[in-house]
Amino acid sequence: MKKESGSSRRGFLGGGLAAGTALVAGAAQAGETLITERQSWASNLGAGVDESPYGQPSEHEADVIRRSVSWLTADPISSVNFTPIHALDGIITPNGLCFERHHGGVAQIAPADYRLMIHGLVDNPLVFTIDDLKRFPRYNKVYFLECAANSGMEWRGAQLNGAQFTHGMIHNVMYTGVMLRDVLAEAGVQTEGKWLLAEGGDASGMSRSIPMDKALDDCMIAFKMNGEALRPEQGYPARLVVPGWEGNMWIKWLRRLEVGDAAWYQREETSKYTDLLPDGRAREFTWAMDAKSVITSPSPQAPITHGAGPLVITGLAWSGHGTIPRVDVTIDGGITWAEARMDGPSFDKSMHRFYLDINWDGSPMLLQSRAHDSTGYVQPTKDQLRAIRGVESIYHNNGIQTWSVAANGEVENVEIS
Ligand code: MTE
Ligand code: CO
Repeated sequence: MKKESGSSRRGFLGGGLAAGTALVAGAAQAGETLITERQSWASNLGAGVDESPYGQPSEHEADVIRRSVSWLTADPISSVNFTPIHALDGIITPNGLCFERHHGGVAQIAPADYRLMIHGLVDNPLVFTIDDLKRFPRYNKVYFLECAANSGMEWRGAQLNGAQFTHGMIHNVMYTGVMLRDVLAEAGVQTEGKWLLAEGGDASGMSRSIPMDKALDDCMIAFKMNGEALRPEQGYPARLVVPGWEGNMWIKWLRRLEVGDAAWYQREETSKYTDLLPDGRAREFTWAMDAKSVITSPSPQAPITHGAGPLVITGLAWSGHGTIPRVDVTIDGGITWAEARMDGPSFDKSMHRFYLDINWDGSPMLLQSRAHDSTGYVQPTKDQLRAIRGVESIYHNNGIQTWSVAANGEVENVEIS
């Protein structure tokens, strides 16, 4: 920040800023002892290299952790925790902060004990080791994974106070892996083979039916995330990547692929992950995750602490159908909308980062964001969703989220649509 002489900028900021100015630092002045006096960290030598062979975040970031909601599930073995999206920026989720969803706990599998079987309607049933898989051509792709239950608690109204809890069943990492079509080609899929069953090697034996068209299109078997091996909680040593589709289909600890001529109708595609409609019928096979967005800061866990003046409003947007060319943001509960500034890479079926840089006058705000995806689809309000889907749904809630910001900067989860 350029040094300014004259009156204190802090005093100036306190009095409010004219639109267009963006002065955010205090003037250099006597009494800034953090600058004028030698501090402890500069008076002694610091820790040497190798202090931490696998690096850890600063102790001052100890709050940036996955968190769960105690009343949501009966037991942590079949439970979920949430990515602290309110504290992150950019589009990549650090590996240690990716939310976890397990139905039978984390399977601990040594790479030497890992096997993947392909059978059913194939010419050559095969069993692969992890080293076999790594000999197929490798690809790198950034994709979001959103649990279909993300925001499920918010169907009937505002409930959980924090973006971490309302929208944190999502992560976005760069996967390194092999194309499922290459692996399937090795086994030789027969012409009647229109479906694929993917089964996990964990105690839950999680299994899902995937149409062959999707399997042959962009699905991957991944063994790396953000450059390093998958974490055990993300399916080490290998998981299925099903771009843009509900997280439940991304089978972890992948052990079996069966080719068949019809869907299997497993538990996770009948009693779970289907959406009960007002007339008593249920939507089956709601695979692709529709466009959605959320303001991550300010938000209940990330209140405004600096008072009026320059304020960075930021959030995430994503679509299972493509990219996000545009996000609108309102600060007055939808009366007026401004187009946010997209920043960072725009990848297909990946999270996108948006910003709206405003000069906050210190009065209360009702913040919302509205995503537009590359197909032209616009994120609906919760009322628009409920008009079609009723109030019995849990899964696939992509409605617009509202945060109420008070004059003191505190933020609360509310609903106005
Ligand atoms: N795969 C297996 N084998 N076991 C599981 O419990 N949970 C599914 C899916 N794959 C699950 C699984 C669900 S519901 C989701 S949302 C994602 O994994 C969560 O992936 P993550 O734990 O990497 O966030
Ligand atoms: Co899930």
